[in-house]
Amino acid sequence: VRKMDSLPRTELFDFHGVSMTHSFTNNWENIQSFQARPDDILIATYPKAGTTWVSYILDLLYFGQNSPERQTSVPIYERVPFLELAIPIMDSGTDLADRLPTSPRLIKTHLPVQFVPKSFWEQNCKIIYVARNPKDTVVSYFHFERMAMNLPEPGDWSSYVQRFMQGKVVFGSWYEHVNNWWQKKDTYTKLHYMFYEDLVEDTGREIDKLCSFLGLSPSVEEKRTISGGVQFDKMKINKMTNYSTFKDMDFNISPFMRKGKVGDWKNHFTEAQRKEFDEDYEKKIKDPTLHFRVEI
Ligand code: A3P
Repeated sequence: VRKMDSLPRTELFDFHGVSMTHSFTNNWENIQSFQARPDDILIATYPKAGTTWVSYILDLLYFGQNSPERQTSVPIYERVPFLELAIPIMDSGTDLADRLPTSPRLIKTHLPVQFVPKSFWEQNCKIIYVARNPKDTVVSYFHFERMAMNLPEPGDWSSYVQRFMQGKVVFGSWYEHVNNWWQKKDTYTKLHYMFYEDLVEDTGREIDKLCSFLGLSPSVEEKRTISGGVQFDKMKINKMTNYSTFKDMDFNISPFMRKGKVGDWKNHFTEAQRKEFDEDYEKKIKDPTLHFRVEI
């Protein structure tokens, strides 16, 4: 069954200096006036950085033990609402978040740091930012735009790479996103900045770091169970985490849980594209303390 008829493709437009589509700006007033609670946890990422992976890890850390039903019947995108998403086929992210019965609430956003609703800062909420190297991000985003029907049509790969470098993709420039969130760390102490590549390299170690940031102390056994349960192959066959129940994605084109690798960019970039991309990167990411690994 092709599920792609549900929504038309959308167009990018400039929104306060960031490329966006209406799906993420329609509900802007409610997003900006969203009332965060002090124990809310915000999972912030540029798209395709491993948002779903970290969302699932957090969900298991908080609710894995005592809510077995949640694990078998509530898809991850309902457990962890996507704050700015407002599309006709489902309730808006702010409504879903307002109705969440759990405490803490886990909330996902792709917003650049300057767009985050001010109540998250005022309430001093814990924020987890996940970043992924730009070459694997652009590959993942390309395949995602091919199959996620409410996003703009990606076009061909070589023009897509150009648009990514120019920031002409939804949520704007990857370079500004990762940089501005990195800067925020200096002034906002409750921000844990983590990397997709580290999670792939050693999931258990990254879960330990998350726990110490969140003030959680699960047993060794529980951590082992979580670390095993969130591996790519497990999440890919888990209907609650693989997005197969989400309308508006065409898995015939590409699955949501696509490859889950560091370095798949090598199968996409030509040598000329890599060179141009790297030169452009050097101009845009100047902070030597912000370092991305493109292989592990
Ligand atoms: P690929 O397209 O490279 O496979 P997001 O959740 O932010 O949209 O990110 C999706 C990307 O994270 C996809 O990347 C997806 O496969 C990957 N991913 C999700 N769960 C993962 C896991 N458990 N291990 C490794 N990668 C994972």
